[in-house]
This record gives sequence, structure tokens and C-alpha cells, in this order.
Amino acid sequence: MEQPDTYPSCNLDARRQAQAGLGNIYLPEQAIIRNIIPENQLVNTYELGLLDELTNHRFTFQPGQFMMISLPHQGEAAISFSSSPESMEGFALTIRNSGRLTAAVHELRKGDIIGVRGPYGKPFPLDQLAGKNLLFIAGGIGLAPLRPVIEHCLAHAGDFGRITLLYGSKTPEEFCFSRDFPRWKTGGIDCRLTADQACGDWKGEIGLVTCLLNGVTVEEGDMALVCGPGIMIRFVLRQLQAMGMPAENILTTLERHMKCGVGTCGHCHMEEKLVCQDGPVFTAAELPDPENP
Ligand SMILES: Cc1cc2nc3c(=O)[nH]c(=O)nc-3n(C[C@H](O)[C@H](O)[C@H](O)COP(=O)(O)OP(=O)(O)OC[C@H]3O[C@@H](n4cnc5c(N)ncnc54)[C@H](O)[C@@H]3O)c2cc1C
Ligand code: FES
Repeated sequence: MEQPDTYPSCNLDARRQAQAGLGNIYLPEQAIIRNIIPENQLVNTYELGLLDELTNHRFTFQPGQFMMISLPHQGEAAISFSSSPESMEGFALTIRNSGRLTAAVHELRKGDIIGVRGPYGKPFPLDQLAGKNLLFIAGGIGLAPLRPVIEHCLAHAGDFGRITLLYGSKTPEEFCFSRDFPRWKTGGIDCRLTADQACGDWKGEIGLVTCLLNGVTVEEGDMALVCGPGIMIRFVLRQLQAMGMPAENILTTLERHMKCGVGTCGHCHMEEKLVCQDGPVFTAAELPDPENP
């Protein structure tokens, strides 16, 4: 049955293509798990390659985009790329065990198969970031979609100004990608970490990631890239703007429950915008309600 065009930005091309039978855009490709890296008790990074070697060789994506992943009878979910397209053949997805599908993914082992379709969504505008000082601010698994941009900045170090990462998690044991921090620091990134609560031999900062903003100054032209829980994004956007950063210079990547991932179903709408197609990367100026990101 034809759906009404409720949202102005609905992806009519994808819908007409599906209706005309010009290839099934919802049919997943098979991807093989090549490696599993545990990040913390609930989060693993999966290094994947498409089973079809030629398709895998041609496969590319941009930082900030996402894949729809699926397992038979377990549903589908959007997951951001957590690797840089330049750093490996294939791609990495960092997945938190948070529900039916992701729990089933956490049961899988090296060599098992996941369904994937994509890449989808609007990426980070890397060309607009060139030449600028960049401030990355992440909470928990929110570092995953920023990691490909950080890796891109390291691979093209001369193209960017000063790079600072402010990263927080509930406890030091829950940091994702802690194996990357020494390399990022050696590459010139000022990595500042905080944990809501200390544990083990943690001697670093204690407090919310917004506390780290107190030690940072904002200069004209600086850009911020922000990802984490909605409440963290809300307070970080407020604080950055109070520090003088214009909303146009703040990029954030949002999560909404998705079904199609390609702008046809309207499930991920945020007022008149579709997160899967107009985002997931938005500037703070583009958010219909920055108090409810
Ligand atoms: C662009 C994008 C990128 C993302 N990237 C990542 C990533 O890199 N890593 C990652 O782990 N996750 C990521 N997510 C989140 C992930 O897609 C969701 O957590 C997804 O729901 C997990 O699927 P599931 O079947 O395992 O869990 P679900 O069964 O969907 O449950 C997950 C949680 O959502 C709640 N929920 C279920 N349905 C709804 C609904 N309709 N409305 C509101 N709440 C609901 C459940 O109660 C539960 O708390 C991303 C989401 C988006 C949109
Ligand atoms: S329009 Fe279907 S998930 Fe966005």
C-alpha cells in the first residue's frame, strides 16, 4: 500500500525504486565478523568485511554515516561506523548490548555472519573542518561515530589546527577505544578524560564531561563535534554557545529509532526532518529542538 508523503524530505527515489522493483534496497548483504574487540562489559567492536570480495573491495563510506544491521528473526538497527574508511579494508561497528538484536549480535563469534545494508546518512563535512581547531566531545559509546573523524585528522595532520578530545564515561572501566588514546596523544591530540565515578587506580578527573569544558577556551572559527546521550548533548550545546561558539560551528550526531534507514517510512522524524536522511549529523543550528536532541 502506498504511504502518504507525510514528511517533506521523504526519499521518493528510494520509494519509487522499491515500488518499481528495481532491486530490493532492503535486502541486506552478508558481512563476516573478522575480529571482535571487547571495549567494556556491554560494548564490543566488530571488524567486518562483506562476504563478496569484489563488493567488499569497492565498498566505501564516510565518517558519520551508519549501516542498518540485521540477524534473521531479531530485527534491524542503525549502527555508526567506528573505523575510518582509510584505516582498514572492510569496516568496524561498535555495538552496545542494549536490546533484542544487539544482544543476539553479542552472542556471535569470529567467522559468523551479520546482515548489513548501507552506508546511509549525511556524513561529517570534512571539507568544512579543514584548517580549523577541532574540539571533540563524547560520552560513553558516543566516541564511536567520532573515531573515524579523529583517525582522518591524524592521517591528514597538516590539514587541521589544534585538536582536543574531551571524553567521559560512567567509570574508567567503561571507556571505549582506550587502546587508541596513547597513539592519539602521540599524534598530537590533547586527550582529556573524566569519569563520573572513580574505580580501580583511576587518578584522573572525576565528574561529568561538561566539567572538562571549564578548562577549554573557544576561538573564532573553532568547530566542535559532539556525540553522547541526549542529556549530555543538550548541556554541551548550551555550554559551548555560552562560551561563544556559534550554533553553526557545532556538529552533533543524533539517534532515533529507525526502520527503513533511507527516508521512506518517516519513523525517525524529528519535526519536519528525518534523522536517517537529513542527518544523523546536524549542526546545532539545524536542530528543531536543541533542548531535546
Ligand atoms: C544513526 C544511528 C547510529 C547509531 N549507532 C549506534 C552505534 O554505533 N552503536 C550502538 O550500540 N547503537 C547505535 N545506535 C542505537 C541502536 O540503533 C539502537 O540502540 C537499537 O535500538 C538497538 O537495537 P536492539 O534491537 O538491540 O534494541 P531494541 O530492542 O531496539 O531496544 C533498545 C532500547 O530502545 C528501547 N526502544 C525500543 N523500541 C523503541 C521505540 N520505538 N521508541 C523508543 N525506545 C525504544 C528499548 O526499550 C531499549 O531500551 C545508533 C542509532 C542511530 C539512529
Ligand atoms: S524515514 Fe525510515 S528510518 Fe528514517
